[in-house]
Amino acid sequence: MLNMAFISVLLLTCISNFCPSSAQGVESSMPRNAGLETYIVHVKSPNGPVLSEPEDLESWYRSFMPTTIASPSERSRLIYSYRNVVTGFAAKLSPEEAKAMEKKDGFVFARPQRVYALHTTHSPNFLGLQQTMGVWGGSNYGKGVIIGVLDTGVTPGHPSFSDLGVPPPPAKWKGRCLLNGTACNNKLIGARSFLNGETTPLPIDEEGHGTHTSSTAAGNMVKDANVFGNANGTAAGMAPLAHLAIYKVCSVEDCTETDILAGMDAAVEDGVDVLSLSLGIGPAAFFQDSIAIGAFGAMEKGIFVSCSAGNSGPFNASLSNEAPWILTVGASTIDRIIKATAMLGNKLQLEGESLFQPKSFPSTLMPLVYPTGVNEDLNITNSLCGIGSFKDIDIKGKVVLCERGGGIGRIDKGQTVKDAGGAAMIMMNDIDSGESTIADPHVLPATHVGFKGGSKIKAYIKSSKSPMATILFGGTVIGVKYAPEVTSFSSRGPSLASPGILKPDIIGPGVSIVAAWPFSVDNSTITKSTFNMISGTSMSCPHLSGIAALLKSAHPSWSPAAIKSAIMTTADLLNLNGTPIIDEKALPADIFAIGAGHVNPSRANDPGLVYDIKPIDYLSYLCGLGYSDKQIGMISRRVIKCSKSIPEAQLNYPSFSISLMASTVTTFTRTVTNVGEPNSSYDLEVSPPPGVAVTVKPNRLVFSKANQQMTYQVTFSRLAPDVNTPYVQGSLKWYSSKRFVRSPISVKLT
Ligand SMILES: *[C@@H]1O[C@H](CO)[C@@H](O)[C@H](O)[C@H]1NC(C)=O
Ligand SMILES: *[C@@H]1O[C@H](CO)[C@@H](O)[C@H](O)[C@H]1NC(C)=O
Ligand SMILES: *[C@@H]1O[C@H](CO)[C@@H](O)[C@H](O)[C@H]1NC(C)=O
Ligand SMILES: *[C@@H]1O[C@H](CO)[C@@H](O)[C@H](O)[C@H]1NC(C)=O
Ligand SMILES: *[C@@H]1O[C@H](CO)[C@@H](O)[C@H](O)[C@H]1NC(C)=O
Ligand SMILES: *[C@@H]1O[C@H](CO)[C@@H](O)[C@H](O)[C@H]1NC(C)=O
Repeated sequence: MLNMAFISVLLLTCISNFCPSSAQGVESSMPRNAGLETYIVHVKSPNGPVLSEPEDLESWYRSFMPTTIASPSERSRLIYSYRNVVTGFAAKLSPEEAKAMEKKDGFVFARPQRVYALHTTHSPNFLGLQQTMGVWGGSNYGKGVIIGVLDTGVTPGHPSFSDLGVPPPPAKWKGRCLLNGTACNNKLIGARSFLNGETTPLPIDEEGHGTHTSSTAAGNMVKDANVFGNANGTAAGMAPLAHLAIYKVCSVEDCTETDILAGMDAAVEDGVDVLSLSLGIGPAAFFQDSIAIGAFGAMEKGIFVSCSAGNSGPFNASLSNEAPWILTVGASTIDRIIKATAMLGNKLQLEGESLFQPKSFPSTLMPLVYPTGVNEDLNITNSLCGIGSFKDIDIKGKVVLCERGGGIGRIDKGQTVKDAGGAAMIMMNDIDSGESTIADPHVLPATHVGFKGGSKIKAYIKSSKSPMATILFGGTVIGVKYAPEVTSFSSRGPSLASPGILKPDIIGPGVSIVAAWPFSVDNSTITKSTFNMISGTSMSCPHLSGIAALLKSAHPSWSPAAIKSAIMTTADLLNLNGTPIIDEKALPADIFAIGAGHVNPSRANDPGLVYDIKPIDYLSYLCGLGYSDKQIGMISRRVIKCSKSIPEAQLNYPSFSISLMASTVTTFTRTVTNVGEPNSSYDLEVSPPPGVAVTVKPNRLVFSKANQQMTYQVTFSRLAPDVNTPYVQGSLKWYSSKRFVRSPISVKLT
């Protein structure tokens, strides 16, 4: 259990509140061969006739390697020859050898690789996906679309990967299944590994993360899925009849950049339609971020790339995967809680959550203890319930109040309490996590309460001579009105890599999500169902990957940018209660938490208008971002000379993120494409950000043809008196009698 929770922090699952720093990725400085590190080397395309044979490309790459390495064992130092998303290779080199390469003709750039962090029974229903109607039927449940998942592998044979009703893969599929025997089928059409340069390990998931994410994207329907008997129902991926191609690029230990690139390179060649990556490295310039580079090559081939936003929230500017050619997905709750109420000796009841709800636990009051002080030897605040926290505190048979965070996994805290003889745990949020709670598969009777509730418990302990508490288990409750809600750990904008692009793009279900798992997490008698409930932007990303597959199946001609636009401009801003979606502080969620809003698959399938972007448009955007010709060349695999550049906010993006100095005026254009009825007209509704005037010309768009394009101009200007905040937000919405096409606007007042 301990081990599992630790791994989950490396992935973009959010087991601990410490996701912030652990999810940022660590510089790898531990070469496997003494003195050698794995480098990513970018080179120019070979001169002369186009080299089409992989062997020719490899010999071009080998020409950069040190001349001393001719022997077979030394030859293996060239680890990957990339073909599709990078012009370059991965190799084991010493710093001196890497330096020597710089002198060779055709060399572009080399650097040591970094280590990346991997960042449902009910979520389909919650998203309005129903068996008899709506977008599932309209898109054939994703039939014919291939989703490539880069993760920790897969669990072949799990009922979620049954191919009942799934047609054979399309003819374009060129991928391979490197599982034993007949483990692949029409659902699981490909499975390969890229692990520390090795392609021989079986792509079997020993961790759980990859099984969970891939089944969330495209798992088939499985009845009576539950965990510890809770959240019982039919589990289904978002695109239950789509195909899955698995690229195992992360092991229990780590995910390295060269492996991720190799997985993306292979997926592009194999013919996937959607790529799903629940992993990231934190804010990074695009030319230094292998996911951004790999995604650019994929996007150029028409592949939709969906990535997790990161688990470093609620702090600002904490995003991963910010490139505009990627869909950046934040995490929100669904309308289900697994209720566990803390009841105190004074009868006060505080609502919380836990997935593990043993029937045998008595609801009688027990002594309640809050471990104060610091363990000096281990330098740990005892209330964080880390190993060593209870050295001088007797918790045997007691209920222990622990605080979330401190880099200690939520489940690990419970394990520590259990190991020290504690009867139960109440885990309270820190102030930053606010009221966001999670139903975790705890190892002892437990509940996770918010900061306000936790503070009341602390006050009660202080005021009482012999504080008492117990936990009342309330099971699965559906219909929570304040869902969806942006959860505390979801990473927030603004984007550091490109402030002129609003990120995250969208939020989707990422808290307490049930999906397939390699083994049963329940050793008791309740069920042998191999599902698990976990949380993270790792979970919200594959929801959107599956939804993108539905849209791709329903609209095969749509580009990745058109699919993204459809998802963003139709998103929800209100919760089930009909009030604005809130964040962990129960305040209306900020534009940097929610992006365009919460995904609404049915509306996304019929957006009316889309903001399209051609691959080449990104080049002038990258020039405008201030990257050098060489840096843009590394991303786009071309020789670039920036002649035309545009401001970032001029990219034809479905949202606006601009910076406006006092008494300035700035104008951008946008082009929309009619994908609704040929004859249609749209009127304009603007909600100007406070202190900003927004004028749009024209303010009515009249279409007479399918795929007709129209361009409009938006002018932003500052109004006096000034607003006293650095950022203001608003929106611009085109609407017809049937639809709306909404773009959020963020303005930085400088
Ligand atoms: C796969 O097949 C090989 C060779 O037949 C065998 O050695 C290995 O144990 C198998 N692995 C699994 C996971 O079934
Ligand atoms: C789950 O629901 C099904 C159908 O309602 C029921 O037959 C089954 O017993 C339930 N399982 C659990 C563990 O509650
Ligand atoms: C992020 O938050 C900090 C502290 O609240 C603030 O000082 C800083 O300006 C913010 N940065 C951005 C980019 O919003
Ligand atoms: C103790 O932990 C705190 C917080 O993690 C850290 O800032 C401090 O440097 C540590 N002190 C020692 C002596 O390790
Ligand atoms: C499951 O079994 C393992 C090993 O026997 C034990 O350590 C763990 O606490 C058990 N988990 C639960 C939830 O009972
Ligand atoms: C669209 O409108 C034009 C002009 O109003 C009309 O001639 C045409 O028949 C209409 N087309 C459709 C498909 O309704």
